[in-house]
Amino acid sequence: MINIRQARAGDEIGMQNCNLTNLPENYEMKYYLYHFATWPTLSFVAENEKGRLVGYVLAKMNEEDTTGQPDGHITSLSVMRSYRRLGLAERLMNQSQRAMLEAYGSSCVSLHVRVSNQAAFSLYKKTLKFE
Ligand SMILES: CC(C)(COP(=O)(O)OP(=O)(O)OC[C@H]1O[C@@H](n2cnc3c(N)ncnc32)[C@H](O)[C@@H]1OP(=O)(O)O)[C@@H](O)C(=O)NCCC(=O)NCCS
Repeated sequence: MINIRQARAGDEIGMQNCNLTNLPENYEMKYYLYHFATWPTLSFVAENEKGRLVGYVLAKMNEEDTTGQPDGHITSLSVMRSYRRLGLAERLMNQSQRAMLEAYGSSCVSLHVRVSNQAAFSLYKKTLKFE
């Protein structure tokens, strides 16, 4: 069984491991901690029955006010290969977006994705209805 819960200090090692395994954009440990400290409710992890992190979403609020509205931003999202296509990314994204709305009144969320990343592109566009 996979449990989805809010990320907290101590999760940065598991998140970084997941990040290094799955993505070319990598971050220093302090960048994860900066997210937890500044936007403590926005990042989530997926944990397997042994307590190992198998997915995460790292999220924040945009610091520059570009639209006059509070905008959320997805810094990074990944799910370990053997746990994919189980709906984990969709659940992680939904939790984070809900938290952005509840904590900051944000209904607008931005992110970057390579057009060539078909799995992620389809997740954002088809499943989550991003424009
Ligand atoms: C992209 C990623 C996070 C998706 O994680 P996931 O947990 O497997 O995604 P979900 O199971 O929640 O899938 C939700 C939807 O996304 C789309 N999707 C996911 N994987 C897909 C794939 N391999 N091919 C096509 N569409 C895919 C589908 O529309 C899927 O809905 P469906 O299962 O009903 O068809 C995962 O593949 C991953 O970690 N990739 C490497 C890191 C990465 O690219 N991160 C995003 C950077 S922007």
